[in-house]
Amino acid sequence: MAGIDRRFSAPKGVSDTLPAEAAITLGATKYFAEVASLYGYSPIETPVLERTEVFERSVGVTSDIVSKQMYTFEDKSGDSLTLRPEGTAGVVRAFVEHEIYKSEPLPWRVFYIADMFRYERPQAGRYRQFKQVGVEAIGAGAPEVDVEQIDMCLSFLGGIGVAQPKLLINSIGDPTCRPEYLKALVEYLDSSEIRSGLCADCRSRANRNPLRVLDCKRPECKKLTEEAPKALDYLCEACRAHFEEVIAGLEALGIDYRIEPRLVRGLDYYTRTAFEVVSGGLEAAQDAVAGGGRYDGLVELFGGPPMPAVGFAVGLARSLAASKSKGKAESDRQGHGRSRHRLGPPRFEPAPRRPDVFVIEIDAGARDQALRLASSMRALGVSVVVSPGDRSVKSSMKHADRSGASVVALLGPDEVAKGEVTVRALRRSAESGPQQLSIRIEDAPRAISEILLEDSAVEEEPEG
Ligand code: HAM
Repeated sequence: MAGIDRRFSAPKGVSDTLPAEAAITLGATKYFAEVASLYGYSPIETPVLERTEVFERSVGVTSDIVSKQMYTFEDKSGDSLTLRPEGTAGVVRAFVEHEIYKSEPLPWRVFYIADMFRYERPQAGRYRQFKQVGVEAIGAGAPEVDVEQIDMCLSFLGGIGVAQPKLLINSIGDPTCRPEYLKALVEYLDSSEIRSGLCADCRSRANRNPLRVLDCKRPECKKLTEEAPKALDYLCEACRAHFEEVIAGLEALGIDYRIEPRLVRGLDYYTRTAFEVVSGGLEAAQDAVAGGGRYDGLVELFGGPPMPAVGFAVGLARSLAASKSKGKAESDRQGHGRSRHRLGPPRFEPAPRRPDVFVIEIDAGARDQALRLASSMRALGVSVVVSPGDRSVKSSMKHADRSGASVVALLGPDEVAKGEVTVRALRRSAESGPQQLSIRIEDAPRAISEILLEDSAVEEEPEG
């Protein structure tokens, strides 16, 4: 066989998510949707493509994302478009464009599950295309909403089993108090012994976007900015009160937190609360599994009325990599996952990958019966794979075995002549009933459903 032609491999930094992994990702996104719904958030979808200006204006032209990482191109009519590097800007653009503030009660609470694109240096946990799950609450000024979102974020991360999640929180002030803080920070960074020791990137950031110097991961820059002025010491009365109420809310819910004065976030739209969740299960350089905060000026920047807002996003691949339940999720994948109507809080489960029933056409003469049987079982919510009559029964049985199906339904010339189907209950123990039986074809969907229910009852029995 010829080798793989590398010309056709996926581009650098983007990759395929094959079924085993995709089942876990799909389970996690479904779980996120359930958690977000519990907090009263509704789904939203915005385009993958936006006008480049949407990100330049919001994320900021001096941010790394806009200045270095965007996939920007001119379309055939000469408009500059960009693949979204993050979700907040598009949601706020949609909020203003559809004048939601005139028609919907505020805060407008929405959640999204969406792919983002950043031209970054690929490494473990850092990709050029990655999935985020996130929320935005627009028109929400109260500190309770910051707390509600942090609680939701941690509840989701806890539910998927992220190892040692740690909440880091800061306030970076607002247009009232930030100018004075920035003045003090620039003065500090301007002192000759500091400036000369900073990396080249930070020396240029010190003028363009001084806050970002505090976010540099290089050890020499970290050390030099240890004593830099802290935004928390410059907060105005209103920002201070907001921050204190957020902290009081976290304490009321018993949420552990660490005030991190260097936390500034990489996007320019933030005001007041900024937070990240890091996981002890990941390498320090890519340990942020979620990030968010307030962006009280962004709606106005897009031409809407002045209006506060807050949101966060979780990086899905990173948080699943940090998930200690990943191993468990892998093994659950083999499980049945059939009990759909369970009461109680949502649970993270990988999407089922195993069919319930494998229908084997022994020869093509049984085709119509096989198609009808499969279709009537699917109408009952039973998942069915049909193995067509152009292959040997032996190879179909092997396939059925590998698929993990609970039941095999065989249809051949004998069965067709008698109007029957031969059913094999692969998981049934000899004491529970016959493992192979002939059933009238019209009775088969109900009889097979009963076998499946019996199987899932056995699987759900507590061990021990
Ligand atoms: P962000 O901190 O840029 O915030 O991204 C949120 C999360 O996405 C990060 O904590 C990380 O887990 C994941 N992430 C970011 N870049 C990559 C990458 N290259 N590869 C894999 N995962 C990545 C935002 O995007 C804001 N829009 C969050 C927000 C919503 N703020 C307010 N509302």
